[in-house]
Amino acid sequence: AVLILLGPPGAGKGTQARMLEEKFGLVQLSTGDLLREAVAAKTEAGKAAKAVMEAGELVSDEIVIAILRDRMTQPDCAKGVILDGFPRTTVQAEALDDLLASSGQKINSAISLEVEDAEMVIRISGRYTCAGCGEGYHDKFKQPVEDGKCDKCGHTKFKRRADDNAETVASRLTAYHAQTAPLIDYYKTQGVLKGIDAMGQIDDIARDLQGVVREVM
Ligand code: AP5
Ligand code: ZN
Repeated sequence: AVLILLGPPGAGKGTQARMLEEKFGLVQLSTGDLLREAVAAKTEAGKAAKAVMEAGELVSDEIVIAILRDRMTQPDCAKGVILDGFPRTTVQAEALDDLLASSGQKINSAISLEVEDAEMVIRISGRYTCAGCGEGYHDKFKQPVEDGKCDKCGHTKFKRRADDNAETVASRLTAYHAQTAPLIDYYKTQGVLKGIDAMGQIDDIARDLQGVVREVM
């Protein structure tokens, strides 16, 4: 199965993708995470991506497509993938169509998480993640059950992203509206688009999303 989670920065793509991964045994594939790993490992792609990400702009299609293709053709992805943050441009969407066609796969659904801009800023500015396992948290909306200790792995160190500041968030939103939002029509035309109201509680959205996923798998 191939599921795409579309949505603006902070919409909850990562949060929901991790929940779907556990529930349906799919592999979450986040180009944001893959790029952050490349930056940390100081690969050529990572060096080229670093400043672009810090500015809140989109990394070049060439780099992102190469990273995605490498990851998606690894054996564990055969059980199915949830694409989180990819594609983000029409060029990337076309490259994905080609990649899937060459391996006889197709997109089950592109699910758009619908959130208002003001809400995204609130979600992003309170976000932090576990340094051990990457589980996502929020200052207001999702705190660990036991103070200062990750629910999933027990780690006590957490981190915040370099691009989660007010200025960069504004650029990320602009990039989303200009370059990524047109994909909603792209997938509507392909007949695979589903919209989900993502303004509510994490668990309610997860339940709606699971309903959609069961229908399309
Ligand atoms: P990326 O890592 O993909 O970031 P993003 O799209 O900005 O998305 P986020 O990770 O910020 O948000 P999310 O939707 O996953 O929300 P989350 O679940 O964490 O990309 C980063 C950068 O990499 C880009 O700017 C670009 O430079 C580059 N890049 C990546 N992919 C690329 C591509 N394909 N092409 C070109 N460049 C690319 O939730 C946010 C917070 O809210 C969390 O704290 C969470 O706990 C909380 N939360 C979640 N849901 C709810 C809810 N329902 N109610 C309350 N709080 C909630
Ligand atoms: Zn953890």
